[in-house]
Amino acid sequence: MIETRHLKLVDTVAQVGSLSKAADKLFLTQSALSHQLKELETYLGTPVFYRIHNQLHFTPAGKEFRDSGKQILEQLAQLEQRVQHMDQDPLKKYIHGYSQEETKRLNDQATTISELLHWDSLWEDGSIILEAGCGVGAQTRIIGPNNPGCQFTAVDLSEKSLEKASKTLLDLGVDNVEFRQADVLKLPYEDESFDHIFVCFLLEHLAEPQKALDELKRVLKKPGTITVIEGDHGSAYFHPYSETAHKAIQAQVLLQKQNGGNANIGRQLYPMLAQAGFSHVSVSPRQVYVDDSKPKMVEGFIKNTFIAMIRGVADEVLSQNIISKEDMENGIRDLYRTAQGGGSFCYTFFKATGLRE
Ligand SMILES: C[S@@+](CC[C@H](N)C(=O)[O-])C[C@H]1O[C@@H](n2cnc3c(N)ncnc32)[C@H](O)[C@@H]1O
Repeated sequence: MIETRHLKLVDTVAQVGSLSKAADKLFLTQSALSHQLKELETYLGTPVFYRIHNQLHFTPAGKEFRDSGKQILEQLAQLEQRVQHMDQDPLKKYIHGYSQEETKRLNDQATTISELLHWDSLWEDGSIILEAGCGVGAQTRIIGPNNPGCQFTAVDLSEKSLEKASKTLLDLGVDNVEFRQADVLKLPYEDESFDHIFVCFLLEHLAEPQKALDELKRVLKKPGTITVIEGDHGSAYFHPYSETAHKAIQAQVLLQKQNGGNANIGRQLYPMLAQAGFSHVSVSPRQVYVDDSKPKMVEGFIKNTFIAMIRGVADEVLSQNIISKEDMENGIRDLYRTAQGGGSFCYTFFKATGLRE
């Protein structure tokens, strides 16, 4: 049967143009390569190459084998990447990473849209609240002071982010939050420990978001509420329209998918919370609309939140061959055009709440 070594052989000959160079590249002797080629042609029942004036040319069957084989090799390489990524440390799977730029981006994001997302993130005094996946505390620094009568426990996988979060809140004089390192899939709390749960931009990064919701529900009191905020990259549209800008966004969606996440999760919050057994589930879409009448939003949202996020994954999507360098650069350039005079940008966040009865 056709084996990957046959696909590689034909692909390499197509790249280097001769059997002897292909043998060198594949670390084979020329007779071993000729043997493999003969084996393949016998199996296919048709030649792959013919020679004119000592030059190799693909037969029509050879061309089909070369082109389809190339696609199969690319799919195998992607499969290998995906599986290897699955076995990695979850901290490494988090596509935005833990750089200083990302800390700034998360803070810009939270500040610019704080009113839109948090005008109703309010709980009754005396509540004990768990914030899961708090990161560098970009949301914590808003919901903590907005609810001075509540006590928050904020958890994240990353010790480094927790240190930053803790310092930020200390500097702001916020004293109703304690931080703890924990995995949302295995929380170190007894059943029914919290009155309310708050989650923001976490589920989109998890390979098993439903399992996380089950675990969060376990530590929630009855009655108690969960609030989940997530984005949805399928909701991004803008003027001037650019196919390439959409390609660059889609590259981030694919990267997140390869790492087990879902950048379009916002639209699924209703069924997910319902499946986890929450009642009274209600989803409120929160649209950000920016044009040049809102210069602070042009800077804070289009440039420093959205484009910064796509730029932040550029190296990774290029190294994984998800998109060409040219498309990525042009896509980012076109996204910047939406932030120039006459441009506009829309994005929708989804805020869902549910009750554990
Ligand atoms: C996009 S950040 C959001 C941080 C914060 N909620 C915000 O809105 O700025 C996602 C965070 O989820 C954390 N995270 C990922 N998987 C996690 C897990 N299994 N348990 C706890 N935190 C996790 C990451 O370390 C990261 O800090």
